[in-house]
Amino acid sequence: MNKKKEDLMEKIVSLCKRRGLIFPGSEIYGGLANTWDYGPVGVELKNNVKKIWWKYFVQEREDIVGLDAAILMNSKTWEASGHVAGFSDPLVDCKKCKTRHRGDKLIEEKHGVDDVAGIKLEDVQPRLMKEKIACPHCGAVDWTEAKKFNLMFKTHQGVTEDSGSLVYLRPETAQGIFVNFKNVLDTTHLKLPFGIAQIGKAFRNEITPGNFIFRTREFEQMEIEYFVAEKDWKKKYEEFKESCWKFFTEYGLNPEKLRWRQHAPDELSHYSKETYDIEYRFPWGWGELEGFAYRTDFDLKQHEKFSGAKLRYRDPETNEEIIPHCIEPSFGCDRTLLTFLIDAYTEEEVKSASGEKETRVILKFHKDLAPIKAAILPLSKKEELTKPARGIFNSLKSHWMVQYDETQSIGKRYRRQDEIGTPFCVTVDFETLEDKAVTVRDRDSMKQERVKIDELVEYLKKRFEE
Ligand code: GAP
Repeated sequence: MNKKKEDLMEKIVSLCKRRGLIFPGSEIYGGLANTWDYGPVGVELKNNVKKIWWKYFVQEREDIVGLDAAILMNSKTWEASGHVAGFSDPLVDCKKCKTRHRGDKLIEEKHGVDDVAGIKLEDVQPRLMKEKIACPHCGAVDWTEAKKFNLMFKTHQGVTEDSGSLVYLRPETAQGIFVNFKNVLDTTHLKLPFGIAQIGKAFRNEITPGNFIFRTREFEQMEIEYFVAEKDWKKKYEEFKESCWKFFTEYGLNPEKLRWRQHAPDELSHYSKETYDIEYRFPWGWGELEGFAYRTDFDLKQHEKFSGAKLRYRDPETNEEIIPHCIEPSFGCDRTLLTFLIDAYTEEEVKSASGEKETRVILKFHKDLAPIKAAILPLSKKEELTKPARGIFNSLKSHWMVQYDETQSIGKRYRRQDEIGTPFCVTVDFETLEDKAVTVRDRDSMKQERVKIDELVEYLKKRFEE
């Protein structure tokens, strides 16, 4: 990563801390590596990411319903899904300093993502040695054979710690959907094709987490399992692919920084026959934003086999019973948020009130994503202004997440709101007392308009629809 790009991430991480978006986890105890907490502004942003996703894929579609399944599931789930046997990464140890690393990632860092896709376990160590890939910790080139390391977090349910009480923290939300396939079908009138969506936490004991919230051990996923008749899978796959792309671009991501990347045959997960990822050009290079897999009938079949339950769909016209096939768009919520954050980060050169050049930092979020929709700013702390300003805050708060702020100079307050991406600042000044109007400042253009207080709600509604 070059210096400029490194600076950008440093700036974003520091902005997130400074403005209450994202804090390092357990900070007062010295932190816990790669854990992050969403602050007062960050939680609004994250809720908005989930809200727009749910609106786009569930609320506005007749064929997709929601679900919220438990994180802890019967351990047989993970035997059936193949995660107990196969959800692992190739680990190598440096013989000199004894640190442990993900072998495929070390090669990937040298060559880029395509080169290492699907590398076999036995090929990892020879390649590290042949290409003289050094230990990032001590610089030696002396690696052990690669070993498989299962990524699932284990814990125990109840008071005993025997093998019978073993449970896993789910590594994907998808399985909660598959095990509820019959429940959903029995309680709705869904006809194929249909989907079940879920947003929730997932956990993976990643060996190399990093890049801020890009790869963490605890994260949130937004997943859909979309069930189709086998003969229709390709058509539906292509349709869904297009709507996933539109989701990101309609909410403001720069399409030039997005691409589809197809998985090579030996890179495919054990359940997938075809997978494409939407990748974003992060400051450190291209990285997966969303995985989009054709999971065939693998999961439902496996769960039938392991549970004995019948997970079938009866065609209402032919009365034929089938196991549907499944298309899976799988989004990382934190990663989606990070992408919107990076894409929205803008620096502009402006002139200060005293005529000096300064940098204005703005998060140019789509209005639906903006954590705070409007800030109400009385020009002075005098009651004659704070009283009407509070009145305006009260009239807006049932419509949107708004903020009242009377601290510091107006310039500093604008700057603060720009830095968290607030689309509108509503300023109450001494003229307000005469004309019963306020100044509305637009985040991006900085244009100011005088709007009657009585018309403010309607005015903002219109502006949000633009
Ligand atoms: N159910 C399929 C599945 O889980 P995946 O490609 O392993 O597929 C899907 O994960 C998405 O979840 C990724 O595209 C990414 O956005 C997000 N994700 C996966 N691992 C993550 C991690 N350690 N930290 C943050 N997000 C992660």
